[in-house]
Amino acid sequence: MSEKTDKNLSYAFAAESKASARNMVFAQKAERDGYPQIARLFRAVADAESVHARKYLMLMRGKIGSTEENLEAAFQNEIKANVEEYPKLIREASEEGVTATERAFSQSRDVEDRHAELYKSAMNNMLADRQTDYYVCQVCGYVNEDEPPEKCPVCGAVKGKFKQAL
Ligand SMILES: [Fe+2]
Ligand SMILES: [Fe+2]
Repeated sequence: MSEKTDKNLSYAFAAESKASARNMVFAQKAERDGYPQIARLFRAVADAESVHARKYLMLMRGKIGSTEENLEAAFQNEIKANVEEYPKLIREASEEGVTATERAFSQSRDVEDRHAELYKSAMNNMLADRQTDYYVCQVCGYVNEDEPPEKCPVCGAVKGKFKQAL
């Protein structure tokens, strides 16, 4: 595969991923505005965009490895976000005095740390074949094992804000 094709796939992957996330937020807004039918349409198209995004990622060179390799890659990405990427974003948000953005970045940094921890334990547990359920905080993205916590340790959201991952 040529470098150009790889670059184009990477571009299309990013664009479709963004479009999918954007449509999901549009859907939430439509829901709040009292347009459930429009919300359904936004969710359907978001799902379609994510079909495209996944297809492009599969076609890209060297992005998908064995499950052990993927766990390791996912772990490294969380560490990078936690120690390199978010600290810079947090510092700049703080300098600009945009407190809501700073808080969002800070919570994400803390949550990435938690994600890394979960990947690490999954790598260790893979051979033990341990079964567990995961619950995701819909406010900040914190992931809890086994059951939803009474209160989110990162953002303080109540138990009802946790959704079980399929
Ligand atoms: Fe993460
Ligand atoms: Fe949370």
